[in-house]
Amino acid sequence: MATLVTTVTETLRYRGKIGQWSWMFHRISGLATLLFLGLHIIDTSWAAFYPELYEEAIAIYQSPLYTIGEFFLVAGVIYHAYNGLRVFLLDYKPAWWKYQRRAATIVWAASIVTLIPTFIFMANHALEFYNEADEVAGLQQIIDVQAEFALGFVVIIAAALVLSALYGLITRSRSRFVLPGRAEGMMWSFTRLSGVLILPLVFGHLAMIHVIQGVFDITGGGLQIVGTSAVNVSGEAAEFVGARWDQLLIGVAIWRVYDAFLLILATVHGFNGLRYVVNDYFHRPVVNRALNWAIVFGTVALCALGIAALLAGVDETAYEIAQEMTAH
Ligand code: HEM
Ligand code: HEM
Repeated sequence: MATLVTTVTETLRYRGKIGQWSWMFHRISGLATLLFLGLHIIDTSWAAFYPELYEEAIAIYQSPLYTIGEFFLVAGVIYHAYNGLRVFLLDYKPAWWKYQRRAATIVWAASIVTLIPTFIFMANHALEFYNEADEVAGLQQIIDVQAEFALGFVVIIAAALVLSALYGLITRSRSRFVLPGRAEGMMWSFTRLSGVLILPLVFGHLAMIHVIQGVFDITGGGLQIVGTSAVNVSGEAAEFVGARWDQLLIGVAIWRVYDAFLLILATVHGFNGLRYVVNDYFHRPVVNRALNWAIVFGTVALCALGIAALLAGVDETAYEIAQEMTAH
């Protein structure tokens, strides 16, 4: 924990070095995106399993507070992606290390150049929506939903700490969590390779959901659904997801396959990144083991939930349930 305090104070004290700032923003943007992704996988699964809750979740995405968060999320993902690409290139081409500073500056510049048109599109969608919207989710509703997620998170960490303490007592082990065999080296390579593979997938997802369709038009009745030949007849978010997941390209449910790759790669990449952060700051064996176990559990649970939703799909009954809910 003391190392966490040192990291923050030293980063602030050690001014002017672009590499240090790049490292810090890469870390913060990665962790923030992971936090979002965890919630996002849970709420997307509601489209399949609890359509009425999914409508509520999308209404929250369309609230002013989340709209501000959406801008930060998109900025964070774009910066993290470009900077990750820089790390990847320099790790595999040490001869280019002499261009470190210039590469870091290019990353900031490329992020800004990408963000300007992206933000213009997003702001247009938002203004159009708020000019016409008669009701948006209130702060209390948002806090209530997030409080449940926070409680779940606390329970998982507490359970992991208790298990880890018991394990320490029974086995008398004083060692931290270690991956077996050559897995650590493989995860290092996976982090880099998966980052490069996620980049086009995340950018494609964000382009469809934020730029072309816009988060607000997920519930646009009578509107064409991005990436499909369907129109959103009910105007429900559940139908948006259902139609996308049912869209076939040469007999293949193209968006299900796309989402499955994004799900596995981003979840494993993000949680493995969180493992690096945990191992940097939490050294006491009981705590280190507990947090690593929670990470393994989180990775497996979220991948399983996401895949279950993709396999189940969203059918017409779900559209009707969603419609009944929004009619109230
Ligand atoms: C506010 C921002 C976002 C919104 C509103 C949004 C919206 C959606 C929607 C509507 C779906 C349903 C399926 C589909 O249309 O393809 C979906 C699925 C998915 N999204 Fe996003 N997305 C956002 C950001 C992100 C980001 C940044 C990531 C990756 C880091 C991501 C990863 C995924 C994954 C993995 C799935 C599939 C989940 C599953 O299998 O259950 N999304 N998203
Ligand atoms: C979009 C394409 C992406 C690329 C190219 C990318 C690339 C990378 C690379 C190369 C690293 C290792 C950095 C290092 O060891 O110095 C990394 C770390 C990390 N990534 Fe990504 N990433 C991407 C997307 C994501 C997403 C979607 C998430 C969240 C789910 C995420 C979360 C993290 C975290 C938490 C770390 C650890 C940060 C640290 O150790 O300081 N990344 N990323």
